[in-house]
Amino acid sequence: MAKKALMVVSFGTTIPQARRAIEQVEQKLRAAFPDHDFYRAFTSGMVARKIEREEGIFIPSPAELLEQLAADGYDEVRCQSLHIIFGQEYEKLLAQLMPFHGRFARLLVGQPLLWDTADYLRLTRALLAEMPRLDTDEAFVFMGHGTDHPANAAYALVENCFRYHRAERVYVGTVEGFPHLDYVLARLDAHEVTRVHLAPLMLVAGDHAQNDLAGDGDDSWKSRLEGEGYTVETHLRGLGELDAVAEISADHCRAAQRMDGTYRAITGGRWSRPPVFLSQPRRQQEKLPKGYSRFHFPAKPVHLLGYTGSTREAGQTWTSKKPNGARRSSSAVRRPGRRNIGKRNTCARWRPACSGLSCAQC
Ligand code: CO
Repeated sequence: MAKKALMVVSFGTTIPQARRAIEQVEQKLRAAFPDHDFYRAFTSGMVARKIEREEGIFIPSPAELLEQLAADGYDEVRCQSLHIIFGQEYEKLLAQLMPFHGRFARLLVGQPLLWDTADYLRLTRALLAEMPRLDTDEAFVFMGHGTDHPANAAYALVENCFRYHRAERVYVGTVEGFPHLDYVLARLDAHEVTRVHLAPLMLVAGDHAQNDLAGDGDDSWKSRLEGEGYTVETHLRGLGELDAVAEISADHCRAAQRMDGTYRAITGGRWSRPPVFLSQPRRQQEKLPKGYSRFHFPAKPVHLLGYTGSTREAGQTWTSKKPNGARRSSSAVRRPGRRNIGKRNTCARWRPACSGLSCAQC
């Protein structure tokens, strides 16, 4: 019988408690492939060296692990990436896999977490389901990693999928790319938010989450938001702790594609020319999760939080606390719902014939 190995590869984290997020996904993958021997690798050499120095645990790089698996006589190696986007670390993994083409009867590699549109929709839906109910002056801000790799565009799609699920005050910023925190701050300000929830959009709540997001330093997102007068609540949980993330990874692992010898990122051959293409026939049309269609908005919001509109009645006056502590009075104005669009609008803040869609005053 063929000797099979499952290698699960992540960036890694030096913070032992944060590693449980990685372990949770690994456990589920392990359970999904019971006839494979399980192995772990980290793409970050820096993280692996620090763990070895501080904890005496050796975690191999993908190349080191593959060398060992080849020596141990494995016929088939199935490699699943736990990277979030198809960025530098994922490419680094592919580059390390490439030379091992031919050393195994089958060398398969699975896509990172956010690949097809369906993955983004599944992830954002799962995040919304876990989210506390947001009041109209509350917002939820996710911190992604960010990169100068073109895959940085993924973060904009994550935020767009929150909008697709009708989550208005849920934002995505990144530590090392765009959108940056300043852009998130500008939008919080525009939406009269006073209370902000912060959470990492990373596999683990590791170094970035502990320091750049929730740290006490002046530069942390928490400190900066508090400095602007917001009340901040942090949710330090890695994405790996969500069942949906393990499920997406397991699906990608089942659909893992065969590596051939020419460093081909596995795009299914649909979009790219070499050096990025595929050794297998064209993949099937992208499948969206149940309840979604390519062209239609969901019939009703997937998750009705407070953000679908103001709960205040037109004409009502209330006093809200601004982030800087000042109180100011406003009077309620009904934003036009879909029904109103195109009809004459008599609201005081709008010009009489405004559709509410393009008027700068609205
Ligand atoms: Co980083």
